[in-house]
Amino acid sequence: MMDRKISPASLESCKDPLKASKYFAVPDKLSDIFLVLIRIGILVSLIASVSLALHLAFSKPTRWFPLPDHLQVSHNVSDTAPTNMSHILFGIGGSVNTWQERSCYSGLWWDPNTTRGFVWLDQKPKYDVSHFLVPYQISHDWRQFRHVHSDYAVRIARIVYESFKLGLPNVRWFVMGDDDTVFFPKNLVTVLGKYDHREMYYIGGNSESVEQDVMHAYGMAFGGGGFAISYALAAQLANIFDSCLHRYYYFYGSDQRVWACVSEIGVPLTKESGFHQLDIRGDPHGLLAAHPLAPLVSLHHLDHLQPLFSNQTHIDSMKTIIHAYHLDPYRIMQQTFCYDPKRRWSISISWGYVVQIYTSMLPAKDLQTPLQTFKTWRSYSDGPFTFNTRPMSSDPCKQPALFFLDKVQEVRSSGTVTSYKRFVHAEAKKCMAAGINPEEVERITVSALKLDPNYWKNVPRRQCCRVMDGGSIKDGSLRMRIRKCRTRETVTIRQL
Ligand SMILES: *[C@@H]1O[C@H](CO)[C@@H](O)[C@H](O)[C@H]1NC(C)=O
Ligand SMILES: *[C@@H]1O[C@H](CO)[C@@H](O)[C@H](O)[C@H]1NC(C)=O
Ligand SMILES: *[C@@H]1O[C@H](CO)[C@@H](O)[C@H](O)[C@H]1NC(C)=O
Ligand SMILES: *[C@@H]1O[C@H](CO)[C@@H](O)[C@H](O)[C@H]1NC(C)=O
Repeated sequence: MMDRKISPASLESCKDPLKASKYFAVPDKLSDIFLVLIRIGILVSLIASVSLALHLAFSKPTRWFPLPDHLQVSHNVSDTAPTNMSHILFGIGGSVNTWQERSCYSGLWWDPNTTRGFVWLDQKPKYDVSHFLVPYQISHDWRQFRHVHSDYAVRIARIVYESFKLGLPNVRWFVMGDDDTVFFPKNLVTVLGKYDHREMYYIGGNSESVEQDVMHAYGMAFGGGGFAISYALAAQLANIFDSCLHRYYYFYGSDQRVWACVSEIGVPLTKESGFHQLDIRGDPHGLLAAHPLAPLVSLHHLDHLQPLFSNQTHIDSMKTIIHAYHLDPYRIMQQTFCYDPKRRWSISISWGYVVQIYTSMLPAKDLQTPLQTFKTWRSYSDGPFTFNTRPMSSDPCKQPALFFLDKVQEVRSSGTVTSYKRFVHAEAKKCMAAGINPEEVERITVSALKLDPNYWKNVPRRQCCRVMDGGSIKDGSLRMRIRKCRTRETVTIRQL
């Protein structure tokens, strides 16, 4: 048994909580030189367009840059072994200006021994990259595309195509992400393993904020949450990609371009609820304390949100989560709830993250609904979101008591004990004094068997939990156990 206190140390390159970089900066005032340049540019593009038109008229090109021959043949169709990490090729959208700072995000989850892929940069970095885990590639041939907004988005969209063109062996899935996306790779393998890479799949998630889905598309995989393109789809996309980019020159984002091109092939988005664009503002804990019953695949926009743990920096919060993920990857952030019938408490556990105690009996349908501790992405409104929420009371006495992950232990390689420590913000103290909040509990200790990845191959069913020792509190600690539900077991409250 190993007992580890989580005390995250900062990574060298992650001293500051990360700031959003601005790729889309536009100069305030166009100087005369700019105007001259623009005129020359227009003339050059006019000549280029005329010659291109002539070229197109007298030739029959299927793509702008021919693919190497070995990529034209379809993938080995008898390749039916189960999907594993080696079949995934990651393509991370980066740039030399931001990579130094943002590489600490991929540094959290990238395992140089098992993860394949590259960060794609706009030019060769002048700084030392020897300590970065993710190897880089330089994007090619992206400057000549027509665009209204930043050509950065054109370049990032082309990563799918450029990754495919590398022609690396045994790639089944091309997975795209931003340089600030945190992936949970084992869960990604579990999710992609459900699908046949020889069919055309486009897998990901959309935005949590309805306003974003309305503005972009509900059927689009938002790039920050990451998305996966099967080999079969990538091969089809490669045939049209560059001409397609040209057609959607007026789009803003790279993910929107990929979506538009995939639409031309006629493939819809397969939604998986473990991909998280996290287009929300404020405190994400309400959402992640009630994660959908699906493996956690990715988190994004962490630098735009409050840290996951109120007491830790952004990067240290993520290290704490990743630490728990390594112990029981398939269970991370899975929600379980149960009741202390004697005290009439409802207890919700988001494994490896947070425990909430309500001093009332809340039915399952409420406990599984996220508390709205956040706002929408664009307008900072109270909704709508693409899922239901419960309002979070501004009265601290009506908020659940929070216990954040503090210690993790592995037990005989098949189980875990996780310990969650009470977090009391200043205002909540008076509620405790008034006896409204459970004052006597300082710590929740949760034991569980590690979740088998095959769990996710079955029809999902939430696991059950129970309060141990008849609910007695020893040294301020309440013990809980998570286990498979018995066949006829339910989380029913007999007297509401
Ligand atoms: C296809 O894959 C199978 C199993 O991996 C292998 O036995 C076979 O030789 C491969 N065929 C070709 C044409 O590469
Ligand atoms: C992944 O699957 C391939 C078969 O496609 C197999 O050769 C390889 O050993 C597997 N790798 C791991 C780490 O299991
Ligand atoms: C990668 O593999 C080497 C050699 O097997 C090992 O020493 C190293 O600890 C591994 N690195 C990680 C991050 O697992
Ligand atoms: C948060 O940090 C403060 C000061 O470092 C510490 O006293 C407190 O115990 C911490 N709370 C939790 C829940 O870790």
